[in-house]
Amino acid sequence: MTAPYRAAITGLGAYVPEKILTNADLEKMVETTDEWIRTRTGIRERHIAAADQATSDLALPASQEALKNAGLTPKDLDLIIVATTSPDMFFPSAACFLQAKLGASCGAFDMAAACSGFAYALSVAESFVKSGLHKHILVVGAETISRFINWTDRGTCVLFGDGAGAAVVSRSKDGHGILASYLGADGRESEILQIPAGGSRIPPSAESIANNLHYIRMQGPELFKIAVKTMEQAVHKVLEYEHLKIKDISCLIPHQANDRILRAVADRLKIPHEKVFINVDRYGNMSSASTVIALYEAVKTGVVKKGDYVVLVAFGGGLTWGASLIKW
Ligand code: UT7
Repeated sequence: MTAPYRAAITGLGAYVPEKILTNADLEKMVETTDEWIRTRTGIRERHIAAADQATSDLALPASQEALKNAGLTPKDLDLIIVATTSPDMFFPSAACFLQAKLGASCGAFDMAAACSGFAYALSVAESFVKSGLHKHILVVGAETISRFINWTDRGTCVLFGDGAGAAVVSRSKDGHGILASYLGADGRESEILQIPAGGSRIPPSAESIANNLHYIRMQGPELFKIAVKTMEQAVHKVLEYEHLKIKDISCLIPHQANDRILRAVADRLKIPHEKVFINVDRYGNMSSASTVIALYEAVKTGVVKKGDYVVLVAFGGGLTWGASLIKW
């Protein structure tokens, strides 16, 4: 049975905090070098939220820009979904804070799927629009992940940055839009990337804080291998749904964790590196904000053009992964 409506991204926005933390700055904080960071990750600098900026504060300007580009006002929205693993607080959700700041009056909720958060949220928004239940949904990927970084752990602190991206998902007017989505998870591998404490398993205590359990823990090399394999499979999966081939993709927009991962995914897919959008050098890994900000930049700079087939693909803690095939 075909769905009554197709969903399309009709407006995009992005915001990164002003403060830039360079590799040279990190050299003064932990035992690392610009050379190590650049050659192992491709990252040169990342943006860090100011002390008074929480996740919904980063989400606000990105959302306002996306709404403006879609030609909508906050009152037109039927739903707000914020993908984040670093919400303002456990509850209320960052989406509720954002709804109030925007002056919207629709439903609002957060989704947590770590770095795959935007892929998950986009797929949910697509389903709501496809079913005819909602006309306009604001989908945001926003993180102040810097608050959950152990700034003495060189294995993780050089990798992440803060930022927010937003997309308005509406009914397609010309048949273009999201053609297929695919989501996956493997909860058995949860220990590879996690923040162990702060939830009901290990509530905050003097001991959990002393043991740095409220910070991101990562088994980098294991994650690297699974990320490459899984993102490759997810891209094949969404293409299969629409009987398309790798050569049909004009632009691949992967989660920006490490440029070596992105190049390895491109090699396995046999897609030319020029077709893979990379901005990890300027932002680091912004978790759920990464793919949407990359899409925003690809559209803004004309890399993605009307009629192009674009694939978004993400991978992160959970483990989780997801991909979307879009006819732009
Ligand atoms: O967003 C979700 C998805 N995230 C990912 O997919 C991240 C996946 N993993 C990675 O991107 C990479 O594994 C890292 C960038 C995290 C690490 O790169 P690696 O090439 O896998 O390095 P490694 O962890 O195997 O470490 C190699 C060496 C170690 O030293 P020894 O044991 O060989 O003496 C580390 O202690 O590099 C050392 N090292 C550093 N040296 C300088 C680790 N971090 C640093 C650092 N500066 N910042």
